[in-house]
Amino acid sequence: MAVISIYDTSALYNQNMSDRQQQRLMEFYEEAFHGYDVDSIHDCSIGAGGTTLPLARLGYRVSGSDVSDNLLAKARDNFAGAGYDIDLFSADFTRLGEALKDTYDCLMSTGNSLPHVDEEGVSDFVRGAAARLNPGGLLYVDMRNWDRLLLEKPIFTARDPLVMTAEEHRSLYQIWNWNGDSSVEFVFVTSTDRNGRHEKTSFTYAPTYYPLRFKDYEAILHRHGFAVRRCFDIDHLWTLAPDVREKCGEFAADFANIGWYAVLAQRLN
Ligand SMILES: C[S@@+](CC[C@H](N)C(=O)[O-])C[C@H]1O[C@@H](n2cnc3c(N)ncnc32)[C@H](O)[C@@H]1O
Repeated sequence: MAVISIYDTSALYNQNMSDRQQQRLMEFYEEAFHGYDVDSIHDCSIGAGGTTLPLARLGYRVSGSDVSDNLLAKARDNFAGAGYDIDLFSADFTRLGEALKDTYDCLMSTGNSLPHVDEEGVSDFVRGAAARLNPGGLLYVDMRNWDRLLLEKPIFTARDPLVMTAEEHRSLYQIWNWNGDSSVEFVFVTSTDRNGRHEKTSFTYAPTYYPLRFKDYEAILHRHGFAVRRCFDIDHLWTLAPDVREKCGEFAADFANIGWYAVLAQRLN
């Protein structure tokens, strides 16, 4: 049995890197940032970069940081492979005030990364962002709908098989290990059968998540001088989102049925 941390593996190397996802993200960002005067964008949890690369393709001056050297190295490859040589460095997003030397028109944290820290960490992130944004700068964060997950507290999700051939069947399951304080660890279980016989089971762990409710995030933004400008249902961008439900197209009314959303906030002074 092998036990591995997901950010030390290649599991996220190609996240959102397919042509289809790149195109979808470009269309989404084009609409999300429409009407704002943005040139420089820094993603503070860039991972392997697939969620952020579409912004470079749209012509923004993109840079990125992360705490995972493994994923930063892959981000360098992914951007270089698309013809972009961008500034990428190691930094903890709870210490942006010290870690970032420049100021930016937009700071972002993509891919449900912010809930890797507790509410105090989120507050540190927003405070640091306020210090490193140009006046009127934007703060963009996307995340799973933790309000909904806290109501449902799922414990087991069967995902699409990774391989399904006559010889090999590789299944993927996600186990949600909820702690007493409502923090949660995801364990991804891969089970491989070859020629009808079980071959191996491996366990890949995601670091702890601290569920972040929309109202709590909004209150933290207000405390640090930000106003929420727009919220987006982005279930169409993140196929990992839970089952898609009927919606009317209005964020507040749909909220309970949204699996993954983004918040665009603006620094007020
Ligand atoms: C789910 S991945 C998302 C990566 C990327 N944004 C994407 O959409 O593919 C979460 C990322 O958050 C990073 N991360 C976690 N805690 C962090 C912190 N305190 N500061 C900076 N990055 C962090 C991880 O290393 C990982 O790359």
